[in-house]
Amino acid sequence: MSAIALQGSRIMVVGGASLVGSATVEALLARGAAQVVIYDNLSFDGEANIAHLKDDPRVRILAGDVLKLHQLLPATEGLDGIVHLAAFMTLNFDRDPWGGIDVNIRGLQNVLEACRANRVRKLVFASSNAVYGYGPGVKGDLVETTPFHAAGAPPAAILYGASKIMGEQLCRDAHRRHGLDYVVLRYSTVYGERQHYRAANALYIVETHDAIKRGERPKVIGDGSETKHFVYVGDLARANCMALEAPATDIALNASGPAPVATLELVRLVAELAGRPDLAPELVPPDPNKVRLTSGGAFAIVHAAAKEAIGWEPQVDMREGLRRLLAWRDGAG
Ligand SMILES: NC(=O)c1ccc[n+]([C@@H]2O[C@H](COP(=O)([O-])OP(=O)(O)OC[C@H]3O[C@@H](n4cnc5c(N)ncnc54)[C@H](O)[C@@H]3O)[C@@H](O)[C@H]2O)c1
Repeated sequence: MSAIALQGSRIMVVGGASLVGSATVEALLARGAAQVVIYDNLSFDGEANIAHLKDDPRVRILAGDVLKLHQLLPATEGLDGIVHLAAFMTLNFDRDPWGGIDVNIRGLQNVLEACRANRVRKLVFASSNAVYGYGPGVKGDLVETTPFHAAGAPPAAILYGASKIMGEQLCRDAHRRHGLDYVVLRYSTVYGERQHYRAANALYIVETHDAIKRGERPKVIGDGSETKHFVYVGDLARANCMALEAPATDIALNASGPAPVATLELVRLVAELAGRPDLAPELVPPDPNKVRLTSGGAFAIVHAAAKEAIGWEPQVDMREGLRRLLAWRDGAG
């Protein structure tokens, strides 16, 4: 069981130019890491996410691809731990399922092989609440033993969830075969500074904010009672660090925010924080041409096991997290 003292450590963040990655690099440095390697092929235009880190002497940026083992092997020499984030999510899977299967499954397999070859002590793998699936079967409390629901959900969402299930099992397999210590964190929908447009649920926040800035009423799909469960990016950066630091291994843990939120409530909150509570949400039917992540009603992603296993719980509620995100989008954050 590897507990990594981050003070003086060497950690690589694979997919480090991402929303979660850029925050994780900051958190690792704040906890005393001696070197943080950002390994990313920058295929999602992440340069701006890491521009503020590139002159830090403790940060090394490698423009590498997870599909190229010959690049990963030298890059992973002498590391204490890896946080693996590089992935396609549902919207990218919808555009390019081949790419999603390659990056999410073969890419992780390459990282696990590099860990074995270079005796990296611990891996944190970013999984997702997508492992519970989508559609009418998803409702109530989602705990780590909740099964996968595929019926009635778009293929891209199920392909994404299935790729994370494959990833989790590849980690378990590497633990059994080679003794690699790992923690899987099943993030719920992430939001925060450096937010992108790649996550279907986070579009409720960024598209609402964009509409309000144009002086338009924001749109809510359906009657707005459907819940979403978000987690603030800084809370996840802390979770990634704590998963490396804790002795826990061979385990999958939910990492979600303090509480779920109904979409209507979320859109109203964004309008209020953006100073336009007068712009009442407009309820619209779903657009059949767009991928939507639906559920069978109210659900919550329970994060009690993470507290028990690695001592983590979320600290930032939606109001505060949204305030920080909107400030960043307005250029003041
Ligand atoms: N954002 C969310 O709402 C959310 C929710 C649950 C789980 N997750 C998981 O968390 C992780 C991080 O999410 P995010 O939103 O911060 O990611 P992101 O979309 O911002 O970034 C992914 C990164 O992976 C990199 N990448 C893609 N293909 C690569 C390749 N072949 N080689 C090297 N790098 C490559 C991209 O350049 C990008 O920087 C992902 O694994 C994602 O599945 C995210």
